[in-house]
Amino acid sequence: MKTYEIALVPGDGTGPEVVAEGIKVLEKAADKCGFGLNFTRFDLGGEHYKATGEILSDQTLAALGRADAIFLGAIGHPDVKPGILEKGILLKLRFHFDQYINLRPVKLYEGVATPIKGKGPEDIDFVVVRENTEGLYAGAGGVLKYGTPDEVAVQESINTRKGVERCVRFAFEYCRGRNRRKKLTLCGKTNVLTYAFDLWERVFREVAAEYPDIEADYAHVDAICMWMVKNPEWFDVIVTDNMFGDIITDLGAMIQGGMGIAAGGNINPAGVSMFEPIGGSAPKYTGRGVINPIAAIGAAQIMLETLGERRAAGLIEAGIMKVLREDIADVGAGRMGHSTSEVGDLVAAHVEAAA
Ligand code: IPM
Ligand code: MN
Repeated sequence: MKTYEIALVPGDGTGPEVVAEGIKVLEKAADKCGFGLNFTRFDLGGEHYKATGEILSDQTLAALGRADAIFLGAIGHPDVKPGILEKGILLKLRFHFDQYINLRPVKLYEGVATPIKGKGPEDIDFVVVRENTEGLYAGAGGVLKYGTPDEVAVQESINTRKGVERCVRFAFEYCRGRNRRKKLTLCGKTNVLTYAFDLWERVFREVAAEYPDIEADYAHVDAICMWMVKNPEWFDVIVTDNMFGDIITDLGAMIQGGMGIAAGGNINPAGVSMFEPIGGSAPKYTGRGVINPIAAIGAAQIMLETLGERRAAGLIEAGIMKVLREDIADVGAGRMGHSTSEVGDLVAAHVEAAA
Protein backbone atom coordinates (compact mmCIF):
# COMPACT_ATOMS: atom_id res chain seq x y z
CA MET A 1 0.00 0.00 0.00
CA LYS A 2 1.26 3.45 -0.92
CA THR A 3 1.68 5.68 2.12
CA TYR A 4 2.23 9.42 1.86
CA GLU A 5 4.20 11.37 4.41
CA ILE A 6 2.24 14.52 5.21
CA ALA A 7 3.88 17.29 7.23
CA LEU A 8 1.33 19.21 9.27
CA VAL A 9 1.88 22.87 10.08
CA PRO A 10 -1.32 23.78 11.94
CA GLY A 11 0.19 27.14 12.89
CA ASP A 12 -1.63 29.96 14.64
CA GLY A 13 -5.11 30.95 15.72
CA THR A 14 -7.81 28.86 14.14
CA GLY A 15 -5.27 26.99 11.99
CA PRO A 16 -5.13 23.91 14.24
CA GLU A 17 -8.94 23.65 14.46
CA VAL A 18 -9.41 23.58 10.71
CA VAL A 19 -6.41 21.35 10.04
CA ALA A 20 -7.94 18.77 12.42
CA GLU A 21 -11.04 18.66 10.22
CA GLY A 22 -8.93 18.34 7.10
CA ILE A 23 -7.16 15.34 8.63
CA LYS A 24 -10.48 13.73 9.58
CA VAL A 25 -11.66 13.90 5.98
CA LEU A 26 -8.29 12.93 4.49
CA GLU A 27 -8.20 9.77 6.60
CA LYS A 28 -11.64 8.71 5.42
CA ALA A 29 -10.74 9.36 1.78
CA ALA A 30 -7.47 7.43 2.10
CA ASP A 31 -9.23 4.42 3.71
CA LYS A 32 -11.80 4.44 0.99
CA CYS A 33 -9.25 4.57 -1.83
CA GLY A 34 -6.67 2.19 -0.37
CA PHE A 35 -3.68 4.40 0.36
CA GLY A 36 -2.10 5.47 3.62
CA LEU A 37 -1.30 8.84 5.14
CA ASN A 38 1.32 9.31 7.80
CA PHE A 39 1.07 12.69 9.55
CA THR A 40 3.96 14.43 11.29
CA ARG A 41 3.23 17.62 13.15
CA PHE A 42 5.52 20.66 13.19
CA ASP A 43 4.93 23.40 15.74
CA LEU A 44 5.60 26.55 13.80
CA GLY A 45 4.01 29.93 14.20
CA GLY A 46 3.54 32.79 16.62
CA GLU A 47 3.23 30.74 19.81
CA HIS A 48 6.33 28.73 19.01
CA TYR A 49 8.22 31.92 18.14
CA LYS A 50 7.18 33.64 21.37
CA ALA A 51 8.13 30.63 23.46
CA THR A 52 11.47 29.80 21.81
CA GLY A 53 12.55 32.80 19.71
CA GLU A 54 12.85 30.43 16.78
CA ILE A 55 11.01 31.11 13.53
CA LEU A 56 11.99 28.25 11.23
CA SER A 57 15.16 26.23 11.74
CA ASP A 58 17.26 24.56 9.07
CA GLN A 59 16.52 21.28 10.80
CA THR A 60 12.76 21.82 10.45
CA LEU A 61 13.21 22.81 6.81
CA ALA A 62 15.15 19.61 6.17
CA ALA A 63 12.47 17.51 7.88
CA LEU A 64 9.70 19.22 5.89
CA GLY A 65 11.70 18.50 2.76
CA ARG A 66 11.38 14.77 3.39
CA ALA A 67 7.58 14.94 3.29
CA ASP A 68 5.45 14.23 0.22
CA ALA A 69 3.40 17.35 0.97
CA ILE A 70 2.81 20.00 3.62
CA PHE A 71 -0.66 20.77 4.98
CA LEU A 72 -0.74 24.21 6.59
CA GLY A 73 -3.41 25.87 8.75
CA ALA A 74 -2.60 29.56 9.22
CA ILE A 75 0.36 31.74 10.10
CA GLY A 76 -0.01 35.11 11.86
CA HIS A 77 -0.17 36.21 15.49
CA PRO A 78 -1.57 39.43 17.00
CA ASP A 79 1.45 39.82 19.33
CA VAL A 80 4.04 39.49 16.57
CA LYS A 81 4.89 42.42 14.31
CA PRO A 82 3.42 41.95 10.80
CA GLY A 83 5.92 40.51 8.36
CA ILE A 84 8.03 38.45 10.75
CA LEU A 85 6.01 35.25 10.63
CA GLU A 86 4.66 35.79 7.12
CA LYS A 87 8.12 36.28 5.66
CA GLY A 88 9.91 33.97 8.08
CA ILE A 89 7.58 31.00 7.70
CA LEU A 90 5.00 31.17 4.92
CA LEU A 91 7.06 32.95 2.26
CA LYS A 92 10.24 31.19 3.39
CA LEU A 93 8.58 27.81 2.79
CA ARG A 94 7.26 28.88 -0.62
CA PHE A 95 10.71 30.09 -1.66
CA HIS A 96 12.78 27.34 -0.06
CA PHE A 97 10.77 24.59 -1.72
CA ASP A 98 10.52 26.61 -4.94
CA GLN A 99 6.75 26.34 -4.92
CA TYR A 100 6.49 28.52 -7.97
CA ILE A 101 2.78 28.09 -8.54
CA ASN A 102 0.06 29.33 -6.25
CA LEU A 103 -3.05 27.61 -7.51
CA ARG A 104 -6.32 29.17 -6.37
CA PRO A 105 -9.61 27.82 -7.61
CA VAL A 106 -12.51 30.28 -7.52
CA LYS A 107 -15.57 28.08 -7.65
CA LEU A 108 -18.99 28.95 -6.34
CA TYR A 109 -20.70 25.84 -5.01
CA GLU A 110 -24.42 25.35 -4.98
CA GLY A 111 -25.92 26.49 -1.69
CA VAL A 112 -23.28 29.17 -1.14
CA ALA A 113 -24.26 32.83 -1.41
CA THR A 114 -22.19 35.10 -3.59
CA PRO A 115 -22.37 38.88 -3.14
CA ILE A 116 -22.72 39.18 -6.92
CA LYS A 117 -26.33 39.67 -7.85
CA GLY A 118 -27.65 37.38 -10.56
CA LYS A 119 -24.62 35.05 -10.74
CA GLY A 120 -24.63 31.40 -9.79
CA PRO A 121 -22.39 28.32 -9.76
CA GLU A 122 -22.53 28.10 -13.57
CA ASP A 123 -20.98 31.58 -13.80
CA ILE A 124 -18.25 31.40 -11.19
CA ASP A 125 -15.79 28.59 -11.86
CA PHE A 126 -12.27 29.62 -12.74
CA VAL A 127 -8.75 29.11 -11.45
CA VAL A 128 -6.04 31.66 -10.79
CA VAL A 129 -2.46 30.53 -11.42
CA ARG A 130 -0.37 32.98 -9.41
CA GLU A 131 3.41 33.10 -9.77
CA ASN A 132 4.63 32.42 -6.24
CA THR A 133 8.39 33.04 -5.96
CA GLU A 134 9.18 36.32 -7.73
CA GLY A 135 7.74 39.75 -8.46
CA LEU A 136 7.37 42.18 -5.59
CA TYR A 137 7.63 39.27 -3.16
CA ALA A 138 11.27 38.56 -4.01
CA GLY A 139 12.39 41.10 -1.42
CA ALA A 140 14.49 43.24 -3.75
CA GLY A 141 14.98 46.86 -2.81
CA GLY A 142 15.99 48.73 0.28
CA VAL A 143 15.72 51.79 2.41
CA LEU A 144 17.95 54.85 2.68
CA LYS A 145 17.89 57.46 5.45
CA TYR A 146 15.30 55.48 7.38
CA GLY A 147 12.98 57.52 9.56
CA THR A 148 14.25 60.88 8.29
CA PRO A 149 12.43 63.38 6.06
CA ASP A 150 14.78 62.24 3.25
CA GLU A 151 13.83 58.59 3.52
CA VAL A 152 13.84 56.60 0.28
CA ALA A 153 12.05 53.25 0.04
CA VAL A 154 12.51 51.09 -3.04
CA GLN A 155 10.68 47.82 -3.61
CA GLU A 156 11.42 46.20 -6.93
CA SER A 157 9.54 43.56 -8.87
CA ILE A 158 11.79 40.75 -10.06
CA ASN A 159 10.62 38.89 -13.15
CA THR A 160 12.94 36.31 -14.64
CA ARG A 161 12.53 34.76 -18.05
CA LYS A 162 12.72 31.32 -16.45
CA GLY A 163 10.31 32.14 -13.62
CA VAL A 164 7.74 33.67 -15.94
CA GLU A 165 7.99 30.91 -18.50
CA ARG A 166 7.57 28.02 -16.09
CA CYS A 167 4.51 29.71 -14.61
CA VAL A 168 2.95 30.45 -17.99
CA ARG A 169 3.63 26.90 -19.18
CA PHE A 170 2.03 25.46 -16.06
CA ALA A 171 -1.03 27.63 -16.69
CA PHE A 172 -1.40 26.47 -20.30
CA GLU A 173 -1.05 22.82 -19.26
CA TYR A 174 -3.49 23.30 -16.42
CA CYS A 175 -5.99 24.99 -18.71
CA ARG A 176 -5.73 22.13 -21.18
CA GLY A 177 -6.20 19.55 -18.42
CA ARG A 178 -9.19 21.38 -16.99
CA ASN A 179 -10.84 21.10 -20.35
CA ARG A 180 -13.52 23.64 -19.66
CA ARG A 181 -13.67 26.78 -21.79
CA LYS A 182 -10.02 26.36 -22.82
CA LYS A 183 -9.29 30.01 -22.30
CA LEU A 184 -6.25 31.36 -20.53
CA THR A 185 -6.19 35.03 -19.58
CA LEU A 186 -2.94 36.78 -18.78
CA CYS A 187 -3.60 39.37 -16.07
CA GLY A 188 -1.02 42.17 -16.32
CA LYS A 189 -0.50 45.89 -16.64
CA THR A 190 1.28 46.27 -19.97
CA ASN A 191 0.19 49.90 -20.27
CA VAL A 192 2.24 51.01 -17.26
CA LEU A 193 4.59 48.26 -16.07
CA THR A 194 6.23 48.19 -19.46
CA TYR A 195 9.32 46.22 -18.45
CA ALA A 196 7.86 43.44 -16.34
CA PHE A 197 4.68 42.82 -18.28
CA ASP A 198 6.37 43.18 -21.61
CA LEU A 199 8.36 40.11 -20.61
CA TRP A 200 5.22 38.36 -19.40
CA GLU A 201 3.34 39.17 -22.59
CA ARG A 202 6.14 38.06 -24.92
CA VAL A 203 6.53 34.78 -23.06
CA PHE A 204 2.76 34.32 -22.99
CA ARG A 205 2.41 34.82 -26.77
CA GLU A 206 5.37 32.55 -27.46
CA VAL A 207 4.10 29.69 -25.33
CA ALA A 208 0.54 30.22 -26.61
CA ALA A 209 1.75 29.24 -30.08
CA GLU A 210 2.34 25.73 -28.72
CA TYR A 211 -1.26 25.54 -27.47
CA PRO A 212 -3.47 26.21 -30.48
CA ASP A 213 -6.38 24.51 -28.66
CA ILE A 214 -6.36 27.24 -26.00
CA GLU A 215 -7.63 30.76 -26.48
CA ALA A 216 -4.91 33.11 -25.25
CA ASP A 217 -6.50 36.23 -23.82
CA TYR A 218 -5.05 39.32 -22.14
CA ALA A 219 -6.53 41.85 -19.70
CA HIS A 220 -5.11 44.54 -17.43
CA VAL A 221 -5.38 43.78 -13.73
CA ASP A 222 -7.74 46.69 -13.03
CA ALA A 223 -10.10 45.52 -15.76
CA ILE A 224 -9.89 41.97 -14.40
CA CYS A 225 -11.15 43.33 -11.06
CA MET A 226 -14.16 44.82 -12.81
CA TRP A 227 -14.94 41.72 -14.80
CA MET A 228 -14.47 39.28 -11.95
CA VAL A 229 -17.44 41.08 -10.43
CA LYS A 230 -19.44 41.94 -13.53
CA ASN A 231 -18.75 38.94 -15.79
CA PRO A 232 -16.99 36.18 -13.84
CA GLU A 233 -18.26 33.68 -16.43
CA TRP A 234 -15.71 35.08 -18.89
CA PHE A 235 -12.85 33.39 -17.05
CA ASP A 236 -11.53 29.86 -17.20
CA VAL A 237 -7.89 30.12 -16.08
CA ILE A 238 -6.09 33.37 -15.23
CA VAL A 239 -2.30 33.54 -15.00
CA THR A 240 -0.57 36.45 -13.28
CA ASP A 241 2.36 37.65 -11.21
CA ASN A 242 2.71 37.30 -7.46
CA MET A 243 1.32 40.66 -6.32
CA PHE A 244 -1.62 40.86 -8.71
CA GLY A 245 -2.35 37.23 -7.93
CA ASP A 246 -2.43 37.97 -4.22
CA ILE A 247 -4.93 40.77 -4.73
CA ILE A 248 -7.27 39.21 -7.27
CA THR A 249 -7.49 35.94 -5.34
CA ASP A 250 -8.90 37.72 -2.30
CA LEU A 251 -11.49 39.22 -4.61
CA GLY A 252 -12.01 35.71 -5.97
CA ALA A 253 -12.43 34.31 -2.47
CA MET A 254 -15.21 36.81 -1.79
CA ILE A 255 -17.19 35.97 -4.91
CA GLN A 256 -17.00 32.24 -4.13
CA GLY A 257 -18.39 32.70 -0.64
CA GLY A 258 -15.50 33.96 1.45
CA MET A 259 -12.56 32.84 3.51
CA GLY A 260 -14.45 29.88 4.91
CA ILE A 261 -14.40 28.32 1.45
CA ALA A 262 -11.28 29.48 -0.40
CA ALA A 263 -8.32 27.11 -0.61
CA GLY A 264 -5.05 27.03 -2.46
CA GLY A 265 -1.95 25.08 -3.25
CA ASN A 266 1.68 26.26 -3.33
CA ILE A 267 3.01 23.90 -5.92
CA ASN A 268 6.40 22.75 -7.07
CA PRO A 269 5.46 20.13 -9.66
CA ALA A 270 8.80 18.38 -9.08
CA GLY A 271 9.17 18.94 -5.34
CA VAL A 272 7.41 19.41 -2.03
CA SER A 273 4.14 21.31 -2.34
CA MET A 274 2.13 22.99 0.40
CA PHE A 275 -1.64 23.35 0.75
CA GLU A 276 -3.57 25.86 2.81
CA PRO A 277 -6.89 27.53 3.39
CA ILE A 278 -6.24 31.06 2.17
CA GLY A 279 -7.85 32.83 5.13
CA GLY A 280 -5.70 33.94 8.04
CA SER A 281 -5.40 32.86 11.66
CA ALA A 282 -8.58 34.73 12.74
CA PRO A 283 -7.45 35.33 16.35
CA LYS A 284 -10.83 36.58 17.51
CA TYR A 285 -12.49 33.30 16.61
CA THR A 286 -9.79 31.02 18.01
CA GLY A 287 -11.00 28.10 20.09
CA ARG A 288 -14.67 28.89 19.60
CA GLY A 289 -15.41 26.21 17.03
CA VAL A 290 -17.17 28.66 14.73
CA ILE A 291 -14.77 28.79 11.78
CA ASN A 292 -15.80 27.01 8.61
CA PRO A 293 -13.31 24.19 7.92
CA ILE A 294 -14.41 23.77 4.29
CA ALA A 295 -11.47 25.89 3.09
CA ALA A 296 -9.01 23.59 4.88
CA ILE A 297 -10.85 20.52 3.63
CA GLY A 298 -10.69 22.01 0.12
CA ALA A 299 -6.93 22.47 0.56
CA ALA A 300 -6.72 18.78 1.49
CA GLN A 301 -8.60 17.99 -1.71
CA ILE A 302 -6.16 20.01 -3.84
CA MET A 303 -3.31 18.22 -2.04
CA LEU A 304 -4.64 14.79 -3.01
CA GLU A 305 -5.22 15.95 -6.57
CA THR A 306 -1.63 17.19 -6.77
CA LEU A 307 -0.32 13.93 -5.30
CA GLY A 308 -2.17 12.12 -8.08
CA GLU A 309 -4.97 10.68 -5.90
CA ARG A 310 -7.72 11.95 -8.14
CA ARG A 311 -10.44 9.59 -7.01
CA ALA A 312 -9.93 10.45 -3.35
CA ALA A 313 -9.86 14.15 -4.22
CA GLY A 314 -13.10 13.73 -6.15
CA LEU A 315 -14.75 12.06 -3.17
CA ILE A 316 -13.75 14.96 -0.95
CA GLU A 317 -15.10 17.52 -3.39
CA ALA A 318 -18.36 15.60 -3.67
CA GLY A 319 -18.56 15.56 0.14
CA ILE A 320 -17.92 19.30 0.33
CA MET A 321 -20.58 19.95 -2.30
CA LYS A 322 -23.15 17.82 -0.50
CA VAL A 323 -22.53 19.54 2.83
CA LEU A 324 -22.74 23.00 1.29
CA ARG A 325 -25.91 22.09 -0.58
CA GLU A 326 -27.72 20.24 2.18
CA ASP A 327 -26.29 20.75 5.62
CA ILE A 328 -24.90 24.21 6.17
CA ALA A 329 -27.10 27.24 6.73
CA ASP A 330 -24.41 29.82 5.86
CA VAL A 331 -20.67 29.58 5.25
CA GLY A 332 -19.69 32.50 7.53
CA ALA A 333 -17.99 32.12 10.91
CA GLY A 334 -20.64 31.41 13.56
CA ARG A 335 -23.44 31.21 11.03
CA MET A 336 -23.07 27.64 9.79
CA GLY A 337 -25.68 26.12 12.09
CA HIS A 338 -22.93 23.63 13.01
CA SER A 339 -19.60 23.78 14.80
CA THR A 340 -16.25 23.50 13.03
CA SER A 341 -15.91 19.84 14.00
CA GLU A 342 -19.51 19.01 13.08
CA VAL A 343 -18.89 20.29 9.57
CA GLY A 344 -15.77 18.11 9.38
CA ASP A 345 -17.82 15.12 10.61
CA LEU A 346 -20.46 15.75 7.95
CA VAL A 347 -17.96 15.87 5.09
CA ALA A 348 -16.17 12.80 6.47
CA ALA A 349 -19.49 10.92 6.69
CA HIS A 350 -20.32 11.77 3.07
CA VAL A 351 -16.90 10.56 1.95
CA GLU A 352 -17.37 7.35 3.88
CA ALA A 353 -20.86 6.78 2.48
CA ALA A 354 -19.83 7.42 -1.15
CA ALA A 355 -20.30 4.49 -3.49
C1 IPM B 1 -1.68 34.84 0.76
C2 IPM B 1 -1.35 35.73 1.91
C3 IPM B 1 0.17 35.88 1.98
C4 IPM B 1 0.63 36.48 0.67
C5 IPM B 1 0.67 36.70 3.16
C6 IPM B 1 0.16 36.19 4.48
C7 IPM B 1 2.17 36.80 3.19
O1 IPM B 1 -1.98 36.95 1.79
O2 IPM B 1 -1.31 33.65 0.80
O3 IPM B 1 -2.31 35.30 -0.18
O4 IPM B 1 0.64 37.71 0.52
O5 IPM B 1 0.97 35.71 -0.22
MN1 MN C 1 -3.25 37.11 0.06
